[in-house]
Amino acid sequence: MSAEKQLLITGGAGFIGSHLAQACLERGHRVRILDNFATGLKKNLEGMEVDLVEGDIRDEALLAKIMKDVDGVFHLAALPSVPRSVKDPFASHDNNITGVLRVLIAARDAGAKMVFAGSSSAYGDTEVLPKREDMPVSPLSPYAVTKVAGEHYLKAFARVYGMPTAIVRYFNVFGPRQRNDSPYSGVIAKFCRAALEGEVCKIEGDGLQSRDFTYVADAARGTLLAMEKEVPGGEVINLAGGNRISLLDLVNSLSKFCGSQVRVEHGPDRPGDVKHSQADVSKALALLGFKTEFSFDEGLEKTLEWYRKEHPAPC
Ligand code: UD1
Repeated sequence: MSAEKQLLITGGAGFIGSHLAQACLERGHRVRILDNFATGLKKNLEGMEVDLVEGDIRDEALLAKIMKDVDGVFHLAALPSVPRSVKDPFASHDNNITGVLRVLIAARDAGAKMVFAGSSSAYGDTEVLPKREDMPVSPLSPYAVTKVAGEHYLKAFARVYGMPTAIVRYFNVFGPRQRNDSPYSGVIAKFCRAALEGEVCKIEGDGLQSRDFTYVADAARGTLLAMEKEVPGGEVINLAGGNRISLLDLVNSLSKFCGSQVRVEHGPDRPGDVKHSQADVSKALALLGFKTEFSFDEGLEKTLEWYRKEHPAPC
């Protein structure tokens, strides 16, 4: 796909979506955003020239209207969070599975390519690390089920309608603009807030669980590449650095950047949690020429700096 396309980002006012919008604009694309502001914020788009449509991804008529001139759709809108899906599986299903199908049908009818935000949660607790795209999926939580279902829909649409589709599996994306004000916020957002406010970081379990934490600018760049590059229909691609950082490593790095030891408290393991997550990143390199540019510590330092400016506090 050449430059200067009309692109639609569902969930574009959200954390990853707004960074993706920025990356698209920098590449000369025109950007339309559909967001219902369930978790997104208008201020995430400050200074960006985008066509912002407020609405729901399950609104069939609205989708048909805003999809007409669109060349490519990034479907990022979703209710994130494993614990949220454990508390209210129907809401996760309705937003994430019904939502992806509605957007997919509208994109197909408009002749657009679609890139879907998949999740590393699809792998579940595999013994084997790093996790390769050809491993069987094993969703452990309702959230993971919704993301796997979305992937299957994109694969099926590629097969039965010849629709160009691609799936990027995100691995615990973090960075500026990630919400830290909800019980369902990601661990880095929560721990940055706790560290800055001199509060305790509450670790679920022993803190040895690990993640392939990915800085948001890298995730956005990889997602755009999946749209711009020709990839086989329904292809699944891990987007991550290929590293494994434990929560205890995270706390150590936070302490280093704060200049004092961050306090922690341990509680029970989280139901539906995955112990270790680490991506095999060879496919992203082979198909997209993608490699992360930010180390974990570089990303964390930038993130902490951003939260410090947003919420000036002691640390
Ligand atoms: C999962 C997906 C991720 C997806 C995200 C969407 C995996 C491996 N990752 O993230 O790709 O983007 O859902 O929501 O499935 N924790 C604490 N204290 C806290 C918060 C979290 O100890 O206050 C722990 C959790 O128990 C977990 C780890 O930190 O072990 C990461 O949790 P979280 O940031 O919520 O993300 P995942 O559930 O791993």
